Amino acid sequence: MSDTPFRALTDGSLESATVALADEAATAALARRLADSLAPGMVIWLSGALGVGKTTLVRSLLAALGHTGRVASPTFTLLEPYELSSFPVYHFDFYRFSAANEWRDAGFDEYFAGNGVCLVEWPELAGTDLPRPDLQVSLDFAADSQDAGTDLDTESPRRAGLLAFSEAGRRCLRAAADAS
Ligand SMILES: Nc1ncnc2c1ncn2[C@@H]1O[C@H](COP(=O)(O)OP(=O)(O)O)[C@@H](O)[C@H]1O
Ligand SMILES: [Mg+2]
Repeated sequence: MSDTPFRALTDGSLESATVALADEAATAALARRLADSLAPGMVIWLSGALGVGKTTLVRSLLAALGHTGRVASPTFTLLEPYELSSFPVYHFDFYRFSAANEWRDAGFDEYFAGNGVCLVEWPELAGTDLPRPDLQVSLDFAADSQDAGTDLDTESPRRAGLLAFSEAGRRCLRAAADAS
């Protein structure tokens, strides 16, 4: 797999890119580039199968923003908040949602309306009321690692598909895709 990211303009407003993530260090490097180009108030969706590396990416991103403590997966708590020197980061995980009204009942709207950066795992399970993202990062297992039947929990190649929906998202996407 090539290390050169491919970027395609799909139209004037949507922009997409694919970044190859050969190993966990590459995922961490992508997270650092994203962290450097984040703006307050951004919403980023993190999509992809269980175990593909969404939380791992968030860990590196928080470290890049200066967080030194533990980063627990919000699978059970739904939200893990971080007060950082730059801006708050709200890490959500809606894996356990089984109905869209759980999002409405959870009362998280205020987090999405403020200056914090919202990082959302499993946004697909929160229904259509979930605020749209500036950037969607879709992680998947690079095809060859699955074909070979290798242990997907070991260092194995992933791929990140980036899709930007706003000017802030496009800035982030370009920074993330260009620097590798
Ligand atoms: N290239 C890679 N990028 C991210 N994680 C990787 C990579 N290769 C192996 N891993 C491992 O895969 C697992 C991903 O777990 P996690 O981040 O919790 O997944 P998710 O949040 O998507 O369910 C971690 O154990 C991590 O060490
Ligand atoms: Mg996770």
